[in-house]
Amino acid sequence: MPDYDTSRLIVVDHPLVQHKLSILRDKSTSTKDFRELVTELAIFEGYEALRDLPLEKTQVETPLETMAGYRIAGKKIAIIPILRAGLGMVDGILSLVPSARVGHVGMYRDEKTHEPVQYYCKFPPKIEDRTCLVVDPMLATGGSLTAAIQFLREAGVKDIRALTLVSCPEGVKAVLDFDPDVRLYTCVVDRQLNRSAYILPGLGDAGDRIYGTK
Ligand code: PRP
Ligand code: URA
Repeated sequence: MPDYDTSRLIVVDHPLVQHKLSILRDKSTSTKDFRELVTELAIFEGYEALRDLPLEKTQVETPLETMAGYRIAGKKIAIIPILRAGLGMVDGILSLVPSARVGHVGMYRDEKTHEPVQYYCKFPPKIEDRTCLVVDPMLATGGSLTAAIQFLREAGVKDIRALTLVSCPEGVKAVLDFDPDVRLYTCVVDRQLNRSAYILPGLGDAGDRIYGTK
């Protein structure tokens, strides 16, 4: 039984997601395919994370008659990728909500301590009024994601949803314990972290695989 608040963890495990995730994990998957799969998986997750977007009524003229339809009620959304790997998820979510703003949090993990080192942070105006989707393919120790959530809370953001592709129990617990309101979407919760704080079985280094830097 997990020792974290499972009501705020949403595992997006549609069969298509599981299929694409297996290709993503495969060490022989090319950089091009890896990048495309990250985009596709971000679309599935974004779809789930925006399931409760408010609607408003609108009148539609079909070729045959007038009907009462719905449209998104102008909810303001911001996508916040954690650099670098989080950038790989932005285009997928923008394809769902093209008018979303994009803010950036730059962080890398110190190789020895595994603690996040921040090097950049820029949010769009009125960030406090927006629903913020923080995106990063990997949730390992949770250090990077909790730091990004803290920056957003300090900026006054109330509605934060975190979207990761591969997580592990240590990271899920760290994030859900750190913030009592954040909702966490992931495609899978893997077994554990190794001694170098890499996720097992995982997929290796997401940033390197997206950008072909190794
Ligand atoms: C990876 C990943 C997350 C972080 C997860 O980034 O994209 O940001 O590690 O680890 P954590 O949960 O232990 O903080 P990395 O530091 O490798 O930087 P990169 O995206 O620039 O490659
Ligand atoms: N960052 C990654 O890219 N992969 C991991 O397994 C852990 C952190």
